[in-house]
Amino acid sequence: MLLPRLGPSLGPGLRRFLHTVKPHAVDSEINPASLSSDLSLVDTYRSHPCFNLSSLVESKLGKNLHLLSGHPIHTVSYLIQKYFKTAHLERMRQALSADESINKADICVKCFDRLSPIVTKFQNFDNLLFPLDHISRNPTDTYYLDDTHMLRCHTTAHQSQIIPTLSHRELALIVGDVYRRDTIDHCHYPVFHQLDAVRLFDQRPDMSDDGYIVQDLKEALDGMIRYLFSDSVKIRWVDAYFPFTHPSFEMEIFVNGNWLEILGCGVIHPLILSQTGCKYRRGWAFGIGLERITMSLFNIPDIRLFWSEDPRFKSQFVPEKVTPFKPFSNQPSCFKDISFWIHDSYQSNDLFEIIRQETNEMAEAVTLIDTFRHPVTQRESHCYRIHYRSMHSTLTNEQVDELQNNLRQQIVEKLKVELR
Ligand code: DAH
Repeated sequence: MLLPRLGPSLGPGLRRFLHTVKPHAVDSEINPASLSSDLSLVDTYRSHPCFNLSSLVESKLGKNLHLLSGHPIHTVSYLIQKYFKTAHLERMRQALSADESINKADICVKCFDRLSPIVTKFQNFDNLLFPLDHISRNPTDTYYLDDTHMLRCHTTAHQSQIIPTLSHRELALIVGDVYRRDTIDHCHYPVFHQLDAVRLFDQRPDMSDDGYIVQDLKEALDGMIRYLFSDSVKIRWVDAYFPFTHPSFEMEIFVNGNWLEILGCGVIHPLILSQTGCKYRRGWAFGIGLERITMSLFNIPDIRLFWSEDPRFKSQFVPEKVTPFKPFSNQPSCFKDISFWIHDSYQSNDLFEIIRQETNEMAEAVTLIDTFRHPVTQRESHCYRIHYRSMHSTLTNEQVDELQNNLRQQIVEKLKVELR
């Protein structure tokens, strides 16, 4: 889920994108639909040559699963917020207890969970010191509305707006839907949810290095994961690279026999702080993908299920409680292969988008099983295996054939490739 790591930092000016942002108390009773009014804005961009949203992605805008009480994504977001508002807040207060002059009530947690997913390239990339040639800026990886606006590909996009709004002892949490063009398998979907956090500190004259910030960050995250899973969960830290933090780390946890990378974090790059007018402060930040951790906690096998309208899915869950998912239909899967000659501008993410769209999301995974270069013409061909499985009913052979035939036509028409 994490962004590909790459390249050196650069730091363009920031101030023009420091919009005023207001935090919202977490309130499951607010109707999420009313929050999506600015999403009708999408229509105003539709005719722009850079516009590359698929209708599937458009249909997810404004759904705000993280605000739907009872939905597992909401539950995990709620529990993380609860951890920071209780156990972690207490830890922050205790750390300051020696200094009586500090009003403990000033120490608080602010949550921003209704920020529009439409952001500028500046917010998503430049503000965060992404190099100009970073792969995730490509339209093959990212959804653009026009040449300056896009669907955020991480909730970190709001970090630079929020930092200057934080008073001295506040911790900010940012939760929302994020969008990336990606492969098709049981844990990737073009829309998912993230929770980011920012904590600032006054620069302490007695501490010249980042040691105390890293220690505080790791303790906070260790506590969060043990709160969500159990005290005995196995955790390990791996060095990482993000353009906006240094040093940077990833946390992995041991689940179902594998180490699973679940979050990225680090010490906020000093340039981000100085450009947001907070030169004399230090801080840490982290970002966690909610789907991945929710799938582990609830035992949900396929990321497509989060979007299911099937009452057999939706009615299983109790607000704010982690309960194991009970599979309600165990449909067999089947696969079909497709091979075609590619050309210079062929991009596999375009193929994946067409497959999602044209198979009505019946494709649970797509794998490249063979590549071939013709010895004489030097043309290259790719062969993909499409695994079909409906989450709700059995697909008949005829239905799969129909999906596959239609897909073959659409691929030729839209990707301008030649079938083999
Ligand atoms: N935005 C990163 C991603 O999506 C995750 C991340 C890493 C967020 C480090 C942070 C951070 O706030 O400090 O891959």
